[in-house]
Amino acid sequence: MRKYLIAGNWKMNLDRAESVDLATQIIAKLPSPCPVEVSVIPTLVHLEAVKHVIGSNVQLGAQNVYFEKKGAFTGEVSVGMLRDMGVKYVLAGHSERRHILGETDEIVGKKAHAIVTEGLGLILCVGETLEQRQHFKTVEVVGRQLDAGLAHVAAASAESGHLVIAYEPVWAIGTGLTATPAQAQEVHAFIRTKLVEKYGQETAQNIRIQYGGSAKKANAADLLAQVDIDGLLIGGASLMADEFIGIVQAAIAGQPKH
Ligand code: 13P
Repeated sequence: MRKYLIAGNWKMNLDRAESVDLATQIIAKLPSPCPVEVSVIPTLVHLEAVKHVIGSNVQLGAQNVYFEKKGAFTGEVSVGMLRDMGVKYVLAGHSERRHILGETDEIVGKKAHAIVTEGLGLILCVGETLEQRQHFKTVEVVGRQLDAGLAHVAAASAESGHLVIAYEPVWAIGTGLTATPAQAQEVHAFIRTKLVEKYGQETAQNIRIQYGGSAKKANAADLLAQVDIDGLLIGGASLMADEFIGIVQAAIAGQPKH
């Protein structure tokens, strides 16, 4: 059974006090132990502060990392440094990093490799732009991003549960335009097929594929009811404790799907 992973990507939002406050509210409202996996992904500089309030019921995630182990890379942070901080999951290939910060498929592949090699969980983000979708390029783009992102991610990492894929159509991120459950499922099924090709049926069936893009309390249950949607990666709605908890509750109610 694939346990849902509900993760809140706080992006470059919330100061230190707000981050601690949100984490505290989430912890207070979560059932303990929580039957689904929950992660919060604050900005790097507030990881430590958030870690102190979340305890073991919520996993700490990081939005970014550099692929080298150490050295003269001013401004960068290594996977080992994140591990020291108590981080369990690290995003790679988020569309904002691809499109705003200029990260290439090759860089994403190197980051993915570094994350799993150092034993942390990789959330590899993939997704097409609106223009690519309108030109029927979704499968081509997502396929290419998967090939490059997973080029150096060995089967052993996938088997040990260190690999999560997040399908985030760029046109749905922060726009209020959610993919319909059927649109999302279609791409998730394609991603599952790619994972079967690369890692084999059994391993692929255990890899979680999250959906992200204007996910919220009101649409969470319908998205999570899809056979290949195994969690949500949430931006805007994860900044509001009640919304985020509502999404977690929808996941708990839907969990016995598989
Ligand atoms: P929104 O939920 O704000 O659309 O953001 C999704 C996202 O990018 C999560 O990583």
